[in-house]
Amino acid sequence: MKSNLVIQTMLDHKSIRKYTDEVPSDEVIKTIVRAGQQAPFASQYYSVLLSRNRARNPYKAPLLFTICVDSHKFELIMVRRNWKLVTNDLTLMLFGIQDAALMAENMVIAGRSLGLGSCFLGSALYRAEKIAEEYDLPKRVFPLVQLVMGYPAEDPSTRPRYPIEFTLFEDKYPNLNQDTISKAMQQMDEGYLAQDYYRNLNAKIKLEVNREETFTYDNYSWTEHICRKWGQWYPDPKTLLEQLEKRGFHITRKRPK
Ligand SMILES: Cc1cc2nc3c(=O)[nH]c(=O)nc-3n(C[C@H](O)[C@H](O)[C@H](O)COP(=O)(O)O)c2cc1C
Repeated sequence: MKSNLVIQTMLDHKSIRKYTDEVPSDEVIKTIVRAGQQAPFASQYYSVLLSRNRARNPYKAPLLFTICVDSHKFELIMVRRNWKLVTNDLTLMLFGIQDAALMAENMVIAGRSLGLGSCFLGSALYRAEKIAEEYDLPKRVFPLVQLVMGYPAEDPSTRPRYPIEFTLFEDKYPNLNQDTISKAMQQMDEGYLAQDYYRNLNAKIKLEVNREETFTYDNYSWTEHICRKWGQWYPDPKTLLEQLEKRGFHITRKRPK
């Protein structure tokens, strides 16, 4: 494989969940956000909120960014141009998610290049109203994901990824045979087990369905973890749709006039 500083920085990515007390300077913060902004965009349909209140995030990181899909400020521009928004909110949301995610990952890489570690927090989706209150968000701004950042007080090994053969398919989607699936599962599970990842995080997901628990932290790993998530949680989109509706995004119907 080719290697250079950018590739090395990206391949060295690992989520950081322990932080020193050192507070990143304003210059560092600005650099990270500015580098984030330079990500490609469909319409810069996002905003980033910053909180320096350590108590506000579970890992007590000095910085907490909340990455939002933001239609509010774009609509202000439309008013100035004397245009009315007609595109449906599902389309806007899907493009907005891409804009926001690309920006957020650019921030992660920029942070890493300056010696900072980070970790995303996915719970924002389901705490949208709470976050909206905390940050005084106008309607049509939806908190998508949070990102904690700071100087690392741990240096875990990088976590595994699927084999590239399970990710990159040229010209045609292949018939995935059992052997390929086993190899992909093995690479992920052995990689996380080698780090005692779930034991260290004390993060085994409880069985809520009628199944006997046969896993201990000696064999509980990524594929079981992710199956327990998507095999048990959020069967009904209602809660999320409600969060979106409360924030003024109407995903399953036309936006009311
Ligand atoms: C959208 C998203 C949500 C995440 N939510 C959480 C979270 O709530 N808590 C957490 O500790 N890690 C969270 N993570 C981090 C993942 O667990 C982590 O990226 C994954 O295990 C791969 O490990 P690595 O980032 O160290 O390579 C999240 C990552 C993403 C992209």
